[in-house]
Amino acid sequence: MSSTKPGQGRIVAGALAPHPPHLVYAENPPQNEPTAECGWEVLRWGYERLRKSLEEHEIDVIIVHSPHWRTEQGNHVLAAPHFKSLSVDPIFPNLFRFHYDLRCDVELAEAIVAEGAAAGLSMKAMRNPRFRVDYGTITSCHLARPAWDLPIVAISSNRTYWRFNNDVGDAEMLDLGAATRRAVEKTGRKALLLASNSLSHRHFTAEPETPEDMSQERVYHHGQYMWDMHMINLMKTGQVRRLLAEMPDFIEHATSECKEGSLTWMLGALGLPEYPAEVHAYGTVIGTGNAVVEWNPSRHGGGPA
Ligand SMILES: [Fe+2]
Repeated sequence: MSSTKPGQGRIVAGALAPHPPHLVYAENPPQNEPTAECGWEVLRWGYERLRKSLEEHEIDVIIVHSPHWRTEQGNHVLAAPHFKSLSVDPIFPNLFRFHYDLRCDVELAEAIVAEGAAAGLSMKAMRNPRFRVDYGTITSCHLARPAWDLPIVAISSNRTYWRFNNDVGDAEMLDLGAATRRAVEKTGRKALLLASNSLSHRHFTAEPETPEDMSQERVYHHGQYMWDMHMINLMKTGQVRRLLAEMPDFIEHATSECKEGSLTWMLGALGLPEYPAEVHAYGTVIGTGNAVVEWNPSRHGGGPA
């Protein structure tokens, strides 16, 4: 962290980086106990393209917002130096038993908590080193940066969308994104942001005998597929404001995992970018719609003002 200059931090890139554990399972990393023969190649190759694209950047830290760290009271932020344990997906323990060992950027985490609180948000630093990190955080971070050579900061998904409605949830996530951006700038970090959610999220309820049998994988429902293509087209054409205007309807019509706030948080942190995003892949996992999408400010004039 010696190269960081307080006040001169920036978000170097943001990525929609969905977390189906199937993708880690199919990669066969040494940290994961189950092994696979193959599977979900288009999405995994999309992550390969994302990783290659990110090679041009010097990155200090990864900040990830995960749908599977759910907090009832406020936005929580990982804020202990080191976390090490076994993460087991509660739905797919046959696919994901991952031994993680990660570092956390505590100074940045505390800065995000402080900036969020200053903006009137309910914030909480998670300082318990025995806290078990959720599989959404782990999966997105692993697929974006499998070397685990950078510290991370993870942010929870609070229940505002569920307790109030999608509009109120989105408004809070935009505020949380802006607070995250201010913390990055003040601490001088060069940060990669990951929004960990899938798009459409209706899914099959029965698993094939061989999970990676791709003859069983397909779009669950044409309507949700059409919604995914529409939202992806808005990303590709830089129409983030329209995307956010339609987000509440998308969440309801496609049962989208955007209801956890990750994508809206990231778009808020990026300053509602009007430049085109790059879509590296789209594919289904148990029928859900997943896109690997990159927003790269440096290729479009250095980012929003
Ligand atoms: Fe999920």
